[in-house]
Amino acid sequence: MAKIFTATNKKKASGQIILLDIERLDANGCGVGRYKKKPVFVENSLPNEQVKVKIIEAKGKFYKAKVVEYIAKSEHRVEPLCRHFKSCGGCDLQHLNTDEQLVFKQQKVSNLFARENLISHLPWQPAIVSQPWHYRRKARIGVQYSKNGEPIVGFRQKQSNTLTPIKQCNVLVEPLHNVFTELSDICRTLTLPKSIGHIEVIATEKVSIVVRQLIQLNKHDRELWLAKASEHQWQVFIDDGKSVSALTSVESLAYRLCNNSININDKSNGKSIDYDVTIRFEPKDFIQINHGVNENMIFQALQWLSLTKDDVVLDLFCGLGNFSLPIAQQVKKVVGVEGVQSMVNKAMTNAASNNLTNIQFFQADLNASWSEHEWSQHKYTKVLLDPARAGAFDAIQQLLLLNIKTIVYVSCDPATLAKDSHLLVENGYNIQKISIMDMFVHTKHIETMVLFTKA
Ligand SMILES: C[S@@+](CC[C@H](N)C(=O)[O-])C[C@H]1O[C@@H](n2cnc3c(N)ncnc32)[C@H](O)[C@@H]1O
Repeated sequence: MAKIFTATNKKKASGQIILLDIERLDANGCGVGRYKKKPVFVENSLPNEQVKVKIIEAKGKFYKAKVVEYIAKSEHRVEPLCRHFKSCGGCDLQHLNTDEQLVFKQQKVSNLFARENLISHLPWQPAIVSQPWHYRRKARIGVQYSKNGEPIVGFRQKQSNTLTPIKQCNVLVEPLHNVFTELSDICRTLTLPKSIGHIEVIATEKVSIVVRQLIQLNKHDRELWLAKASEHQWQVFIDDGKSVSALTSVESLAYRLCNNSININDKSNGKSIDYDVTIRFEPKDFIQINHGVNENMIFQALQWLSLTKDDVVLDLFCGLGNFSLPIAQQVKKVVGVEGVQSMVNKAMTNAASNNLTNIQFFQADLNASWSEHEWSQHKYTKVLLDPARAGAFDAIQQLLLLNIKTIVYVSCDPATLAKDSHLLVENGYNIQKISIMDMFVHTKHIETMVLFTKA
């Protein structure tokens, strides 16, 4: 690395132009080089690139810099599709081709597992992928107001709470990707000032718009939403912070899971796994945001669990029954456990509307003691767990007592997954298979599945 001129202290370093070799990506997908033995973090730079950068921040242990000129570009660099990529905080990796995004994600998981002293050669399986664009079926769009009251409709800027106005988002599924202009127009025409906190958009069979209303709607604004809803065939819901009510007539929100629509290689491994269920949900419920990856993920989970008609399966953090219902169509019995009572109720309704009588759902805080719960006294042959980002460290300590030989762990946070995996391995489990699932393409977020078995 050649330096152009020398900094003598932190203050002087700021503003300097230096030539930098980018060595790696950090956990957030930001390029990292070295200057005066300190890391330099450079947005929108990639490993093996040589860049001329301006130091914009000099801290005790690192610098932040921005690219002034690309001297040599990476062979993996691609032109970001999105015009908002530089300012919007939604995507981190659009400048890296999708194959290399997977390499980056897999490496990040490997590094975290290595830090937990877990086996260095993880039994990686092919990544689960779906379409690279127009994959996201649910998103929260921010609404803020400028000093003169003009609404700004968009996503947060990188490392900031301020919104960047968005015109179009190619990550959102087709029925949603142009919704921003419409929403901006509405926000501008509303008579109640600064009345909206944010807007959630959901596309299943119909587009649903959930408006977080900070002040009660007046007649004019209500009619405006109704007119727009009828023009675009939206279902509009109002969320007043306590409950969500339908403003327009609405059909129930639902998605179908069917093994016929999956596209992962070697669909059945020679063994047929048939399921066909419909999951109904309410606008505020958790659903997996990438329908294509969700379908493939469920199929792989079922494959890895090697289910038989004799199995009794425990589905922890089961939500609305996204995994429990397809599993129930393969096995003797499923027990799903979830923390949110309203989701447990909907999971029960989902089981009934899919004519499944071999599932039971229970509400429990899985981080608290399981001992008083009747479901924890049953015998299970297999378990699937899909916790939130916080992981399942406390839950796993109790799961260990059930001595279940096969565990499939679906994770949306590799750091907690690595920690939880350490606990399982320490207690006699082996990592049989692991794969990345590209649920959040172009972002730094990583979804992983691991199969653990115990002799
Ligand atoms: C990543 S979601 C997975 C949901 C479901 N498996 C699916 O695929 O749609 C995690 C779920 O865990 C639930 N959850 C989070 N913390 C919990 C806890 N301490 N006890 C029980 N459930 C919890 C959430 O309400 C959410 O439904």
